[in-house]
Amino acid sequence: MLFFERCLSRNDSLSCAGCHMQALAFGDSARFSRGFAGGLAGAHTMRLANARFNQSGHFFWDRRAPSLEAQVVQPIQNVVEMGFDATHGGLAAALARVATAPYYARLFKLAFGDTVVSAERVQSALAQYVRSIVSVQSRWDVAAAAAGAVPPFNQPLPGFTPQENQGLQLFMLPPNAGGTGCAGCHVPPTFSLAADSRSNGLDAGETTVFHSPSLRTIDMGTRYMHDGRFATLEAVVDFYDSGVQAGPALDQRLRVPSGGPRVLNLSAAQKAALVAFLRTLVDTSVTTDARFSDPFRR
Ligand code: HEC
Ligand code: HEC
Repeated sequence: MLFFERCLSRNDSLSCAGCHMQALAFGDSARFSRGFAGGLAGAHTMRLANARFNQSGHFFWDRRAPSLEAQVVQPIQNVVEMGFDATHGGLAAALARVATAPYYARLFKLAFGDTVVSAERVQSALAQYVRSIVSVQSRWDVAAAAAGAVPPFNQPLPGFTPQENQGLQLFMLPPNAGGTGCAGCHVPPTFSLAADSRSNGLDAGETTVFHSPSLRTIDMGTRYMHDGRFATLEAVVDFYDSGVQAGPALDQRLRVPSGGPRVLNLSAAQKAALVAFLRTLVDTSVTTDARFSDPFRR
């Protein structure tokens, strides 16, 4: 309920779900979501499926939140997003609203044993809700489970088209074995980012070490990268093929031995195969599961 609670924004207009929309895999189709007063968020809204499997344990694109509990109350206090920044009463003002909403006393008692609304309890509840959003029913899951696939998950799968299997191998295998090395960072079966991943070289001279959400639920209506610069998976694959830029934060895996950015020189067919494989990570169970859906009748 707290995730769908609009009173957590200063003008009662925007809940977490106003930006993280279930129909869009808990992300947003806009490059930058609009906050409670119409201002633009400073980064692209992250999809949330499989956040519980985040290997680094740090959240946000730039990894500034040290845990999910620390992360989930930051949007409430963000001046653009939900508007309870320090000059508007901070988190305490938002919590006071929760405490006075008639329906929460019963719910806090059920969850925590008494009716007290505290920051810690709101953090636990929101974080645990986000952790509940898991993607385990994509076509890849079904095919891999049926085939008894085991790490490193590079064997062709019976349920897949030849093109999807070509893409699977390109994704899973390292460059020295004929692949593109994606799985070295976006690690199956959760497709979460490896804890030791550094940046992927979107911009020349990049110094920030970026995080990525799990690749689950890509191609379900959202955009890609921290600034949502890519609208399609084709553009993402073109970037990894020939667009990686040099910079201090660029990961070793995306460099050639001399240190410069790696160029893959994929054929059109290989690019299409990689995209076809990425589409097998679409999981409509996330967008349709009633357990994750809006509990309010409006
Ligand atoms: C105005 C739109 C907006 C609202 C409202 C919003 N978010 Fe977000 N969310 C974002 C954006 C944008 C990011 C990425 C921000 C960044 O990295 O700087 C993000 C990131 C996250 C992440 C990090 C995911 C990861 O893998 O690192 C979580 C979790 C999250 N939001 C949960 C929530 C919760 C819980 C709420 C409600 C309390 C909420 N969000 C409200 C836009 C929003
Ligand atoms: C060195 C580790 C690394 C490798 C190798 C790598 N990535 Fe990434 N990937 C990242 C990082 C870091 C981000 C987040 C970048 C950002 O937004 O600043 C990312 C973002 C993405 C995204 C966007 C995720 C989102 O939710 O917006 C997609 C899609 C993606 N990568 C696909 C691939 C594919 C396909 C390959 C193989 C060709 C690949 N990646 C190889 C580290 C890597």
